[in-house]
Amino acid sequence: MAVRKTVQVVPRARRTLTSLRNLGYDLRHAVADIVDNSVSAGATTVHVTVHFDGTRSWIRISDNGRGMNAERLTEAFRYGSEREYDRTELGRFGFGLKSASTSQCRRVTVVSRADTLGAALEARQLDLDHIDQVDKWEIFDLAPDELPEPTRSLLDGASGTVVLWEGLDRVLRLKDPFGGWAKRQLITHAGDIDEHLGMVFHRFLAGEVADREPLRITVNGTLVESWDPFCRSEPSTSALQEEDVEVHSLGGSGIVHLSPFVLPNQNHFSSQAAWKRASGPKSWNRQQGFYIYRADRLIQSGGWCRLRAVDEHAKLARISLEFFPELDSAFGVNVAKASVTLPEELRKELTPLVKSWGRVADAVYRQKQRPPSPPPRRTKPSGVPSAQPVPTERRSTDGRSPSLEHVSGSRPTTSAPALVNQRDLGATSLVPEAAPLSARQALEAAAARVGESEALTRITSALRTTFPEIAHDLGW
Ligand SMILES: Nc1ncnc2c1ncn2[C@@H]1O[C@H](COP(=O)(O)OP(=O)(O)OP(=O)(O)O)[C@@H](O)[C@H]1O
Ligand SMILES: [Mg+2]
Repeated sequence: MAVRKTVQVVPRARRTLTSLRNLGYDLRHAVADIVDNSVSAGATTVHVTVHFDGTRSWIRISDNGRGMNAERLTEAFRYGSEREYDRTELGRFGFGLKSASTSQCRRVTVVSRADTLGAALEARQLDLDHIDQVDKWEIFDLAPDELPEPTRSLLDGASGTVVLWEGLDRVLRLKDPFGGWAKRQLITHAGDIDEHLGMVFHRFLAGEVADREPLRITVNGTLVESWDPFCRSEPSTSALQEEDVEVHSLGGSGIVHLSPFVLPNQNHFSSQAAWKRASGPKSWNRQQGFYIYRADRLIQSGGWCRLRAVDEHAKLARISLEFFPELDSAFGVNVAKASVTLPEELRKELTPLVKSWGRVADAVYRQKQRPPSPPPRRTKPSGVPSAQPVPTERRSTDGRSPSLEHVSGSRPTTSAPALVNQRDLGATSLVPEAAPLSARQALEAAAARVGESEALTRITSALRTTFPEIAHDLGW
């Protein structure tokens, strides 16, 4: 075959870099992407500092990881930098350091010391103002006396990496960058970063990741607390049946592991403070649904991925969905690693499960605070058996085998619903009060608990055909 003639078309640095600032990061995601690199480099401690000084404000992320030698540090600044990744690594595209940094600032400096004997301190800087001038893919190789002040004396003798963002044009967009508003905005950002890191790295912070020491992260000197979306330390949290789903895609095959949880009703939380903390950064309703983990790092928190609508009655359902990078292309993981698309094959499997988890969550949501003595029941619709307790699995805080607890669940059957306050909605909202649980709900909840919702659906559809009256009396 004849050799075809080629011509090299090198991207224009100025315009490409400007476009690459807009890959969809917000500040929290950008910082988390830099922390990903620290985690991949084996860091056990990461310090995030947000410093206010008007237009000279800066954000710094430093770690005690393996660091980089001169060659690796230069390569780290290449868009699409080359390297091999382990299965459990958080990196993938060779973009994060550059794209996350420039999404927030105009000048990024990285100072690093490798963990080899006598390794020197190396520093490189990407400055968008310089790129604008020269229109070339150029970075600065900084001499020790050229290091920006905030990066000095942090890696004295130790290995690690410091990433410094200056010229925060995307963070402080205010007219008066030295004013009180700007300062307050930066303080709010620091709080958001703290909350976000506590959520997305919660498994790392809590020491739940295999073969890793627990990670410590501080934001402006305060230790970031891990936030467990599933409230596993709450005695009344229910862990439902776990599932493994095999997903095949052109990019690779792998297992998706599902661990569904139904959080306790507000009345059964150990304290109001615990209930409030459990509501999460986006608050209860928007925190329901899937928690999608890629290699133990949370990349999507809440939402049902179009498998059902967000609903007050399902707000206690939170489902851990985990996959590893072999399924990256199946999940359409993007550079910012801030959201995914569920593969079609998985969506089909999830559809009935989502329904059954929703029913359990609804039953728990409708549980009433246990009254001192039960009020007398006045009416009972014909054919509907007395209320049955919903068995919920009690997950022990020490991780040993779960024991069972029975809590009374209920649902209105005939009478008009009464009204109660829901404190978590911020303002007072009115929703139906709980009433006795129907036979249908009890069976659906029990079937969901043992992972037999689909079997129950088949049984009830047969029942409707063969004994329609009984099916009707039971609520189907
Ligand atoms: N804190 C760090 N410690 C050690 N090496 C680092 C650090 N940050 C970046 N690197 C090196 O720089 C390379 C480029 O980082 P970058 O974040 O741009 O891409 P990536 O992590 O490989 O992939 P992704 O685009 O998915 O984040 C990394 O692969 C790693 O080798
Ligand atoms: Mg990275």
